[in-house]
Amino acid sequence: MHDKNEKIKMKNTATLELSEEEMRAYGYKVIDAIVTHFVTQHEKLPVVSGTREEMEQLFLKEPPANATNPEEVLDFVVNNIMTNSNIVSHPKSYSFVPGPSNFISAMADALAAGFNIFSGGWQASPAAAAMEINSLNWLLRIFGFPQKRGGGIFTSGGSMANLTALITARNVKCGDNYEKAIIYLSDQAHSSNIKAIRMLGFKKEQIRIIPTDGEFKFSLIKLKNAIAKDRLEGFHPFCLIATAGTTNTGTVDPLNELAEVCKKEDIWFHIDGAYGGFAILSPLGKPLLKGIEKADSLTIDPHKWLYQPYELGCLLVRNHHWLKGTFTEKPEYLRDIEGNTSEINFYDHGIELTRRFRALKFYMSLKTFGLNEFKDAISYNIKLAENVEEYLRQSPHWEVVSPATLAVISFRYHPIDSGMTENQLDALNQYISEKVVESKEALLVTTILNNQVVLRMCLINPRTTMEDVKETLALCEKFATEGMKKI
Ligand SMILES: Cc1ncc(COP(=O)(O)O)c(C=O)c1O
Repeated sequence: MHDKNEKIKMKNTATLELSEEEMRAYGYKVIDAIVTHFVTQHEKLPVVSGTREEMEQLFLKEPPANATNPEEVLDFVVNNIMTNSNIVSHPKSYSFVPGPSNFISAMADALAAGFNIFSGGWQASPAAAAMEINSLNWLLRIFGFPQKRGGGIFTSGGSMANLTALITARNVKCGDNYEKAIIYLSDQAHSSNIKAIRMLGFKKEQIRIIPTDGEFKFSLIKLKNAIAKDRLEGFHPFCLIATAGTTNTGTVDPLNELAEVCKKEDIWFHIDGAYGGFAILSPLGKPLLKGIEKADSLTIDPHKWLYQPYELGCLLVRNHHWLKGTFTEKPEYLRDIEGNTSEINFYDHGIELTRRFRALKFYMSLKTFGLNEFKDAISYNIKLAENVEEYLRQSPHWEVVSPATLAVISFRYHPIDSGMTENQLDALNQYISEKVVESKEALLVTTILNNQVVLRMCLINPRTTMEDVKETLALCEKFATEGMKKI
């Protein structure tokens, strides 16, 4: 009961609304900010820095009790928040996996949020569910998965797709009995897989990290030995994670051979194609990905090399019943919307109940630009990395450490006859990267390959030119000359 003296207004004005004119004016300002970002981003510096203290100063300590002018809040965000974020779609943003994005998909996200489409169950949004099914069918076709039996789900990203895959694999192969279950992955597999395995409750003793060979590929001989040993010791090998485009070097594991091992040993074959999967669209990438169609489950990540804005990951499976069998719960409060079996409720195919309408940006951008534009962009990226490799090889200063593979290349500054030790070379290349990042002119960070510090470029931005790369390498050389005097 309310206190009689407490005043509750029965004519509610707290509706969180703006007038129509205010909404239009506000919306146009948002669009203007986004368009300005798209057309000017290459003129800006891609890197920002901000300490905890500096960033904290931007915000109020207490939640604001009273209203602020909407445009004031918007201006604050555009001028202080967006400007204090790295531009991952900048042509000189080479590190990690860049996010080149595209305008159509950004607008699709605005529509999805604007209409607040609930993409959990069929009944709430049948057309959205059908669009997701249709988009997944395109992907099944692209990746050579079974059309009728295959299935999948859009996720927030590659990490969630890997987690969803491994939950499914464990359920299908082990049920509730997984104390002796063993999972295999290479030392180049992405950390999200280990995270997922740990989240599933597997102990360290149940994880086999198999060393890669000289080309950073899964070593088949070491894998076969490990499986044989585990069987002899009474363990249950149940899942193998291969990578189609490793994050470090773009390397693709020997997919056909691994598929054969899995088939013979009755092991679930998961492929993490979050980075490299979409190279299948290019005639330059497709031959490297032979065997990808043999996976039981495949992670792909449109917010990487399909130029989608965050967040959009995807899991494909050979048999959609596996997802349904793993994730279906039937609470009484959802009984009225169960629908019939042809009407997919995506909350039965994955972890999330409430899901944003992720398929919209995928569908709208593919329909707008056409698949050929994506194919050409991906081919351009692969070729650009190959041209960068050629350029580096022609220089007496640079050493290519891992060749251009699916648009990733790693190299280090190592002048011929410099007489520098490995430690000095590591320090020098670390110095180059730190100085480049400090200059904010480019985002170029290091990784470790063969115990060496190397610079790594991931060239999946279709707007990055050879000129951009040459300018960045010239900057590196300037810092290298400076660094050599200090080291
Ligand atoms: C091979 C691979 N798998 C998984 C992931 C994780 O994907 P996300 O960052 O979308 O969660 C990444 C991210 O770079 C990756 O490169």
